[in-house]
Amino acid sequence: MLDQVTKVHDESRQGEAFAPVATDSQTYSKKFYIESYGCAMNFNDSEIVASILNKEGFGATRNVEEASLILLNTCSIREKAEQTVRKRLTEFRRIKKSTPGLLIGVLGCMAERLKTRLLEEEKLVDMVVGPDAYRALPSLIAEAETGQKSVNVLLSREETYGDISPVRLDNNGVTSFVSIMRGCNNMCTFCVVPFTRGRERSRDAHSIVREAAELFENGYREVTLLGQNVDSYYWTSDDGSETVTFAQLLEKVALINPLLRVRFSTSHPKDITDEVLFTIAKYENICNYIHLPVQSGNNRILQLMNRTYTREWYMKKVERIREILPDCGLSTDIICGFCSETEEEHQETMDIMRFAAYDLAYMYFYSERPGTLAQRRYQDDIPEDVKKRRLAEVVELHRQQSEKNMKDDVGKTFKVLVEGTSKRSEEHLFGRNDQNKVIVFPRENFKKGDYVMVKVDSCTSGTLIGKAVQ
Ligand code: SAH
Ligand code: SF4
Ligand code: F3S
Repeated sequence: MLDQVTKVHDESRQGEAFAPVATDSQTYSKKFYIESYGCAMNFNDSEIVASILNKEGFGATRNVEEASLILLNTCSIREKAEQTVRKRLTEFRRIKKSTPGLLIGVLGCMAERLKTRLLEEEKLVDMVVGPDAYRALPSLIAEAETGQKSVNVLLSREETYGDISPVRLDNNGVTSFVSIMRGCNNMCTFCVVPFTRGRERSRDAHSIVREAAELFENGYREVTLLGQNVDSYYWTSDDGSETVTFAQLLEKVALINPLLRVRFSTSHPKDITDEVLFTIAKYENICNYIHLPVQSGNNRILQLMNRTYTREWYMKKVERIREILPDCGLSTDIICGFCSETEEEHQETMDIMRFAAYDLAYMYFYSERPGTLAQRRYQDDIPEDVKKRRLAEVVELHRQQSEKNMKDDVGKTFKVLVEGTSKRSEEHLFGRNDQNKVIVFPRENFKKGDYVMVKVDSCTSGTLIGKAVQ
């Protein structure tokens, strides 16, 4: 994954990782296999797809060989993401040849972006289904079964899948995603999302609270509320008598139970309000952790990106966060080598990183996406080696900063929600603190889903290591 450097971090999957799904215990006559790419919202969409398919008699399988339906839920955010999917499709060609009747479907953002072109370019694909068309999957599958190619890439202004209970795939039984909105109305010039996901719409607040409450009853102890721009969440009931803002929604979810942790992603610096910050401060179970993508530290570039905030505005937001939530974890997204970015402008990105001292950063070099405003208006004129060098500098600075942040936590005690057994040792458990940092500690008699007070005594670059204390 050359164009993207992230720490191992599955809470807010914005990379191009994929996750084959867990087999469910029920027996189904037919099996589907799904791989998901891209952001957490896309992973959550796969869980909606699983729910729709279960009702059609398809059970999930991890074993691609036993599937009669292979689905790739795709991402278009960077060119590399699309290349990964195309490579996967060629690998599936072999299975398709040896499995009569096997159907292959492309879902998600690449389906939306390429539409019927995908069928011409990738001959083995039988179905192309955009992110707002998953309810049509049963009829699209039926159509494909007759040997026709089926396509539905209609975007909707209303669809939120609010009434569909996602079937949790690949889960740890402790933490879960809950989508609260779809689409995006911002027009960041580099970004393909408004084209692949359509207009922004907020999901019924009651259905969100219901879903989170059900998760809690089923043993889950953390929900992450998902949207491209959660701070612009605004739901109005059909008769107009009830409205819910993001801060109010956070509060409603926090009130389900003090033992249910609440996280959210992503906040746009232009939209996050004091009301949200005060709500986080008011409820112990709303995590002190904010993902606040900066993209660039230079005003000219921010304007070219149409981010609609300035460097100074962003810095004030960070100060405000630190003022209201003194121990808040902060993470970001950064794009290196955007159109016409100079060395000095790149240095300003490095400066703002020093200022914000991020705990976690997703760092990318700019990848021109067809159809975006940047592609139409600007020259993608920074040579690849320069983009990569700037990215390497940003990554190195972040490494130093996050290492320092980790070391600063040694000696502190945190409340950790246990997510499972440590990858390195059976005798250790791992979980996260409020600030979203991973902490590993001896198992003793604790188990998944417990809250444990852990005193940190050492750290690696990505993990805090400690012991349970009373
Ligand atoms: N809604 C979120 C981000 C969604 S995409 C927000 O507004 O912040 C996740 C990240 O991918 C973006 O924050 C950006 O840093 C990166 N990204 C998006 N388009 C890109 C492109 N064309 N090239 C490189 N990185 C990109
Ligand atoms: Fe893309 Fe900007 Fe919307 Fe985020 S806010 S999804 S970067 S257009
Ligand atoms: Fe990728 Fe679509 Fe998400 S482009 S990042 S999967 S909204």
